[in-house]
Amino acid sequence: MKLEGKVALITGSGQGIGRGIAVRLAKEGADIIVDDRADDSRAQETLAEIKALGRRGCVVSGDIGQSDNDRHIIADGIAQMGRIDILVNNAGVERHAPFLEVTEEDYDLVLDVNLRGAFFTTQAFAKHLIDDGRPGRVINISSVHEELPFPNFSPYCASKGALKMLMRNLAVELAPHGITVNNVAPGAIATPINTKLLNDPQLLQRLQQNIPLKRLGTPDDVAGLVAFLASPDADYITAATLYVDGGLMRNYSEQ
Ligand code: BGC
Repeated sequence: MKLEGKVALITGSGQGIGRGIAVRLAKEGADIIVDDRADDSRAQETLAEIKALGRRGCVVSGDIGQSDNDRHIIADGIAQMGRIDILVNNAGVERHAPFLEVTEEDYDLVLDVNLRGAFFTTQAFAKHLIDDGRPGRVINISSVHEELPFPNFSPYCASKGALKMLMRNLAVELAPHGITVNNVAPGAIATPINTKLLNDPQLLQRLQQNIPLKRLGTPDDVAGLVAFLASPDADYITAATLYVDGGLMRNYSEQ
């Protein structure tokens, strides 16, 4: 077990990729702070899985789109578990709309959760590590769309593109404190964010044809990479985006 003695906080770990990461890091020996918008049955289900693995854990909650909540989530996690070593900025939302029809409300929601949330949660976490004089890991769950256009998802792409530059900047600024910062960029993963796609057989088949490995990814596919980045094996990796997308981003074919 590579993460024994470490405490990890994963935002948005009540479901989907976040839950997969929480469980995987627990299997590697980490104690887990589950975060979700509300401390409800979703968050408690993830916590129950952590505890069934014999790890310690707790739940923190609040809308991470508001910076006060970001500071609170970190402070509450430390209060309950004593420390945090690994922060996974996973919580994210997307809204479908052609650019000309995007409302300010949807723009604010997507940018606040995907970017502001990661920004201020990381700021509070970095202060905690620096105050304690300890190294740490920041892992952002970005997307292939930090690089690849996604028509009808402009706020989402803007948030993920910004998350790419935020990661690079923080990797440089925080390196002197022994804090590494990396992005994990999933492609199409079967999770609740893709409910519409998963319920549309034609759309799903077209997408799968477009993925060189010919299948959607699973939360476990993403979680394995996060576990690696959180482990000592990744000590010398910072300022990187690592893709977990079945080859989707690099695909080109004339057939
Ligand atoms: C989005 C999904 C999309 C996938 C591949 C992800 O970042 O959240 O909706 O299917 O990228 O395009």
